[in-house]
Amino acid sequence: MCGIIAAASSRNVGKLLVQGLHRMEYRGYDSAGIALHQDEGVVHLRTLGKVKLLEEKMIQEKPRSKLGIAHTRWATHGEPSEINAHPHKSSERIYIVHNGIIENHVELKKELEEKGYAFTSQTDSELIAHLIELYLQDSSSFIDAIYKAKKRLEGAYAIAVLDYQDPNSIVVARHKSPLLIGLGTDENLAASDPLAIAQLTNEFIFLEDGDVARISSDSYEIFDTNQASVQRAITKLDITSQATSKGDYRHFMEKEIYEQPEAILNTIDGRVGAEDVLDNIFGLNSNELFSKVERIQIAACGTSLHAGRVAANWLSSIAGLPCQIDYASEYRYRNPYVDKNSLFITISQSGETADTLAALSYAKEQEYLATVGICNVPTSTLARESDFVLFTNAGPEIGVASTKAFTTQLAGLLLLTLSLAKARGLNPKLRTRVVEALRTLPEVIRDALKLKDQIIEMAPGVASKDNSLFLGRGIFYPVAKEGALKLKEISYIHAEAYPAGELKHGPLALIDEDMPVIALAPESEIAEKLISNLEEVKARGGKLYVFADPSVTMDVKAGRLIHLPKCDFLLTPIVYTIPLQILAYEVALLRGTDIDQPRNLAKSVTVE
Ligand code: AGP
Repeated sequence: MCGIIAAASSRNVGKLLVQGLHRMEYRGYDSAGIALHQDEGVVHLRTLGKVKLLEEKMIQEKPRSKLGIAHTRWATHGEPSEINAHPHKSSERIYIVHNGIIENHVELKKELEEKGYAFTSQTDSELIAHLIELYLQDSSSFIDAIYKAKKRLEGAYAIAVLDYQDPNSIVVARHKSPLLIGLGTDENLAASDPLAIAQLTNEFIFLEDGDVARISSDSYEIFDTNQASVQRAITKLDITSQATSKGDYRHFMEKEIYEQPEAILNTIDGRVGAEDVLDNIFGLNSNELFSKVERIQIAACGTSLHAGRVAANWLSSIAGLPCQIDYASEYRYRNPYVDKNSLFITISQSGETADTLAALSYAKEQEYLATVGICNVPTSTLARESDFVLFTNAGPEIGVASTKAFTTQLAGLLLLTLSLAKARGLNPKLRTRVVEALRTLPEVIRDALKLKDQIIEMAPGVASKDNSLFLGRGIFYPVAKEGALKLKEISYIHAEAYPAGELKHGPLALIDEDMPVIALAPESEIAEKLISNLEEVKARGGKLYVFADPSVTMDVKAGRLIHLPKCDFLLTPIVYTIPLQILAYEVALLRGTDIDQPRNLAKSVTVE
């Protein structure tokens, strides 16, 4: 998704703005641009493609400027092109960068065109620059014009505005799109993502919806939704360069896969005792509230939704709670019936996914007991807007494909299941069993990571095909779905997941020697049935790649059977995810794709 960075400094800012754009590359984008204030005019550079190309233009132009805004764009309205890249301008005075979507852009554009403003792009963003210039004509101040323009905008936005007539400050505004200020030494910054400016400061101010702020090199001022001057808390955050660099790994995704033992440890650390989950780990009085819960509703997207589907199984078998799960993007469109004593749960790595936030805001209007978030980013909107939160503590996840976010979400959801079971006085022995298993989980994951060499050997068999099927049963069906999602998003191989029993109801027709079938066969009552399903595949020439419990034996012919380390069955969904992540990564390596920033995708999807 789009990324914004702005700086007002006592030194040259061109380089630091471009470095900031580099640090936001992981979010996914298609073009980049920068506007830098100089006395003789604004330097305005844009490129289609990578930030590197913008950097090359900067090297040729050699601008010198202490004030600037920059942007990476992920196309929503208008194709990826230089013309559609931000910053957009109105005359040679107002330059803006925008994240989000302006929903009433058609009518506003028409109105502005009738007033004589000429549009050069197909975006919904350019009109913001014209609107500000229009309102400047009858406003007492620049801030006043921003508020007048804001009143007209419907949708979501974070914007940064550079006014050629003001050589000292940048104005920023936020409405339903993340934006923060960074306080530096002899400089102040603004960005949509703290990682963009983490090398420059560890003091951040997270703006609230409706806020407008003016930053200059030695001061800043924030105004609330009513244009009154306000103070917002300064948050100290140490986002170390180690967390944001690849170290010796080839890709962030690879690093994040191998960080999982540590990440899981951080999720459970301080939250479980010797025999049980600790009280109130979701916030003060969460235990008391959990004792009233009779029903669960989950809403999430993508990988986070898969985590929710696994958890639904745990919630029913360990905490005795019925659970409904929805795609966050669909939830509010089905007029959901809310039963009494229902708990609403969202799951999100970023905490900024627009669909998930929209589902949460809809749920807050309904008769839920409370809202609970499972989230990796403590400073996110989701964290702020939920009644109770559990942070997964996985550390920054940079690769677009979620890996450690998923397994730590699962660990967090297990903690939620245990907390609900405890509050309801259910299954004390089972709870102790799960707590003990959770403590050994980092070690089991370490062992699962050692399967890498065997997986590298099987990867060419998948990388050379254009399609693949993933099979699992019961709680392993969502794990199979996650494996398929990982493979498709980074290798561009078409991958579908099925509960193995469904094969004979249709997909079996797809099986031939060009259809690798990746199956999950943990030891359980379903493993035997799954093996018969796999025999059906083998009999039709399908190549089998089976991840299985050491007790499972079967002839996979030219395929491969890989045994996973033993662990408590309840935790196997977490462990079986590991080889699927490694497989997707190794296949993508063979296919030479852009693993950390796969085509068309964004890390944090901040538009609905
Ligand atoms: C996962 O690999 C994805 N890239 C994507 O499905 C992601 O999980 C989804 O967009 C939800 O993001 P969130 O967890 O930040 O809300």
